[in-house]
Amino acid sequence: MNNIYNFSPGPSKLPQSVIDRVENSINHYKNTGKSILEISHRSNEFDEILNEINDNFLNLFNFSNDVNILLLQGGATFQNSLIPMNIDERCKLGCFVTGTWGKKTSEDFSKILNNVEIIEANKNDLEHYLQKEYTGFQNTDYLHMTSNETIEGIQIQDFNSMNHGNLIIDMSSDLGSYNFNFDNLSYVYAGAQKNMGIPGVTICFAKDDFLIETDNPKYLNLNLLTKSNSVLNTPPTFSIYVLNLVTNWMLEMGGVDYFQNKSIKQSKEIYDFIDENSNVLSCNVDKKYRSKSNVVFNFLKDGQNKKFVDAAKDIGIIGINGHRSVGGIRVSLFNSVDEDMFKFFMKFFKNYISELSN
Ligand SMILES: Cc1ncc(COP(=O)(O)O)c(C=O)c1O
Repeated sequence: MNNIYNFSPGPSKLPQSVIDRVENSINHYKNTGKSILEISHRSNEFDEILNEINDNFLNLFNFSNDVNILLLQGGATFQNSLIPMNIDERCKLGCFVTGTWGKKTSEDFSKILNNVEIIEANKNDLEHYLQKEYTGFQNTDYLHMTSNETIEGIQIQDFNSMNHGNLIIDMSSDLGSYNFNFDNLSYVYAGAQKNMGIPGVTICFAKDDFLIETDNPKYLNLNLLTKSNSVLNTPPTFSIYVLNLVTNWMLEMGGVDYFQNKSIKQSKEIYDFIDENSNVLSCNVDKKYRSKSNVVFNFLKDGQNKKFVDAAKDIGIIGINGHRSVGGIRVSLFNSVDEDMFKFFMKFFKNYISELSN
């Protein structure tokens, strides 16, 4: 079979070294005489995995002691119920909506809390909301946002300088691809299946002062989930195992700095090429907020998007069709997209465009 170059928006490509480790562990996990698939969540082996993930996250993100790490189930979508169920009813929750995922979250939040304020961004003037002086978020106690809108290809990485001190961020499609600090954040979550592993586990970071006492049922009780160190009930042990392998791999590669540089370099090359060919291609996202994780663009001429996706598929490049709700092309540049893979894509892309113009 020909090589496959997987640029999918998620579940996404895993590093080959991780897949090789998984393959071995499925037959024999260390010297346990068991498969990793059979490991108990109450075993020493699983404790070791959880401890290693904890250490790896601290190494990758340099969090202070007041940030708790939780590994949960239900994907990012479950967070749309968990978060509002764990906010004091007297608090006002804001939703800064910059795309599809943030909008879905705001709809779910509004079903649970009465006091939700939705601030729908004008996508042509995102800068307006991100200035230090912007006061439009001021009457909200917590503000939810999506750092990377995976479908539209809109990314806001400079949330640390926003005029709000208690952000709740959905980082499902960009956690691990750039540095940030937790100073003005309260809670962060990300489904693992883009940069951090496979479906089944959601990575959550909760600051101490975000956790309140509630009498919620157990799996909706964030405080209880935090205290139980991700083993309140049977967790997704295999997905957590893969997450550990991915965080080990990230550290071996050079940590978040490495992936930050890689995504800047790769995304710049592809956006520059799109802009240089504006007679056939267009990217409608405000330049400053173009995603370094998901490059979304269109061919100007009808029918060309599909032809491009089909031609790519013929040589093994897969996963580049735009989301069904918006169409077009989406090339995802997650952490596992290495230099060789990226070069292969760019060579194909450049040839395709030059043949179109001839
Ligand atoms: C930014 C973002 N948020 C939320 C989701 C939904 O994630 P899940 O399928 O884990 O619920 C996705 C899925 O692609 C996403 O990209």
